Amino acid sequence: MKNRIVITYGTFDMFHIGHLRLLQRLARLGDRLIVAVSTDEFNALKNKKTLIPYDQRAEIVANIACVDQVVPEQSWEQKQHDIERYQVDVFAMGNDWQGAFDFLKPYCEVVYLPRTQDVSTTELKQSLNQFLTEHGVQGLLP
Ligand code: CTP
Repeated sequence: MKNRIVITYGTFDMFHIGHLRLLQRLARLGDRLIVAVSTDEFNALKNKKTLIPYDQRAEIVANIACVDQVVPEQSWEQKQHDIERYQVDVFAMGNDWQGAFDFLKPYCEVVYLPRTQDVSTTELKQSLNQFLTEHGVQGLLP
């Protein structure tokens, strides 16, 4: 029988416990987990600045035990193409994206999983900025 392929998309900057738990839960939805990591160029299009460059974010995600393959996320339009190319059965994201990708339902299952509470890259950056300010350094992080 064909392997059940799961795919997800994200930036995964300053890799944290919410990222790890999401990937672990995604991996349990199938036999093989593909993670599309947003490139720096694609993030620039979204006005999103990362602290960690693409190559390093991709290398970290690729070395998480439950991840089988990392591919670059370079555009909004590639998802439909990826589903076909990688024979994806399940497209899955955290529920901050609830409903946003329902247009992919004709092509595969679309699943939104609950986020881990109280952790995000945005909050980590805010904590770091606060730490730097408290130590007399102006907040320098994007
Ligand atoms: N995610 C999660 N739990 C968290 C944070 C993120 O499940 N606490 C999930 C998101 O829902 C997404 C994936 O991890 O499916 C990648 O999210 P990303 O946007 O890279 O991480 P965030 O921490 O949400 O980053 P930001 O604060 O910049 O939005």
